[in-house]
Amino acid sequence: MTVLVPTMGALHKGHQGLIKRARALDKDVIVSIFVNPLQFENKEDLEKYPRSPERDIEIATIAGANEVWFPEYEDLFPEGFKTLGAGALGNLYEGASRPGHFDGVVTVIDRLFAIAKPDQAIFGEKDFQQLTIIKAMNSKVEIIAVPTVREFDGLAMSSRNARLSESGRDIALVIHRALAAAKLAPTIEIAHEILNTTLSTEPGFDKDYAAIIDEKDFSLADKKTENRRAIIAGWVEGVRLIDNMPMVGR
Ligand code: PAF
Repeated sequence: MTVLVPTMGALHKGHQGLIKRARALDKDVIVSIFVNPLQFENKEDLEKYPRSPERDIEIATIAGANEVWFPEYEDLFPEGFKTLGAGALGNLYEGASRPGHFDGVVTVIDRLFAIAKPDQAIFGEKDFQQLTIIKAMNSKVEIIAVPTVREFDGLAMSSRNARLSESGRDIALVIHRALAAAKLAPTIEIAHEILNTTLSTEPGFDKDYAAIIDEKDFSLADKKTENRRAIIAGWVEGVRLIDNMPMVGR
């Protein structure tokens, strides 16, 4: 029995959490490392994506991987391969800002699953829209979600954090501040307002979107929505950052 942890490398504590969750399932743990060009709509973002293969092998092995797999582009995408579609959810929020991104994600996941044939696969809630779309692929592989791992001050772990300067990192903290403040709001309307006003207090944060959505289909949540989540995306020093948090229903 095998469990797969798909990653793009530049492993950090968030990935370690995913690998440890996989290890706890008492199966063979494969960690795949592949920076998937199909999911980058921006060439510069792809080029700048951090790469640290040797360190990754060490981190993955210490966290409990039995195998660290570096697939080749040709193995995953042989001549004539077809790009899959991510469906309607693939066009909202992250998908609206990054056209084709989720098509690239579902295509690579489909190929990774086809080759590694895992029984289970682990994904982080940090990329909540990605997680929802992968669950909707309805493959035979059981998808296990792991909550976001945060730094001591709330910043969500991300490979992209490595591209921030010290002051950029300080600016990025506004994302967690906004999520945590919105969570305490007495109503969904106030939560929405707090989310946006908190983000606007930080001029270095260039907001893309901030919304409270229904986890099911990412439609805007209202007070009747059972499972709501606040989602945020924006840029700090030209680096795209995303985060999310479940909201309590009131
Ligand atoms: O979340 C990621 O690192 C990537 O989107 C994934 C799931 C490994 C697919 O390339």
